[in-house]
Amino acid sequence: MSKEYDKLFATNRARTTGFKFDDQVVRVFPDMITRSVPGYELVVPMIGLLARRYAQPGSNLYDLGCSLGATSLAMAGAVNAKDVQIIAVDNSTAMVSQFGKLLEELKGGIPIRIRHQDILETSIEDASVVVLNFTLQFIEREHRQHLLNTIAAGMKKDAALVVSEKILFADEQEQAYQTAWHHDFKRTQGYSELEIAQKRDALEDVLRPDTEEIHFRRFEQAGLSQPRRWFQCFSFASYIAFK
Ligand SMILES: C[S@@+](CC[C@H](N)C(=O)[O-])C[C@H]1O[C@@H](n2cnc3c(N)ncnc32)[C@H](O)[C@@H]1O
Repeated sequence: MSKEYDKLFATNRARTTGFKFDDQVVRVFPDMITRSVPGYELVVPMIGLLARRYAQPGSNLYDLGCSLGATSLAMAGAVNAKDVQIIAVDNSTAMVSQFGKLLEELKGGIPIRIRHQDILETSIEDASVVVLNFTLQFIEREHRQHLLNTIAAGMKKDAALVVSEKILFADEQEQAYQTAWHHDFKRTQGYSELEIAQKRDALEDVLRPDTEEIHFRRFEQAGLSQPRRWFQCFSFASYIAFK
């Protein structure tokens, strides 16, 4: 997919609230996420590797909040278990229609089925791998535990859940360091002070991060075991837990 340069927040906006995964965002999304999330370009292929290890024959692999399908495609390219399918779910019309067009051009390999649906309503069955790659942070906090419980109930024995998130730090000083480092990263990616400030405002009420402690407690309450952080770059981390 061609990468259109993200200039969405480059000019002064009257309103900067209410970030949405709409047509405008979809056009620049691959560029936006790689220049905003340190480590994204490493996390995606590594999820492919993890999926290869934990995919079980005859099972389903879920990519919840799939956007343009980067993680689904990484899993499809890496997994060698027989008779599996990838179920990619997103509630953004713009995202799924773009991902659908891309899939039409790709032939063969592991089937990827796109569901245009809210992940809070999607059914999870016979799952050996479930991925929420930077998606849980966009779900209302009060629904997060229920979502994890539903996912866990649909996971097979020994299945893996991968959750990548922007995280919060309980310690104020630590939070200040991590925010400064993230903004330094964005500056090196060519984002201006105005872009950084306006994007932060736009995401404020939409992207609500939790601390690592909360994520671990949620895994435990969902009945998942051995949770661990397998990746972190500044305030962006990825976790894995098992059924
Ligand atoms: C940061 S993007 C995820 C990136 C993607 N997983 C990847 O690896 O490239 C978050 C995605 O979650 C989707 N999303 C947010 N809330 C959702 C919900 N309730 N149901 C389904 N998708 C949702 C958004 O439409 C968006 O495409």
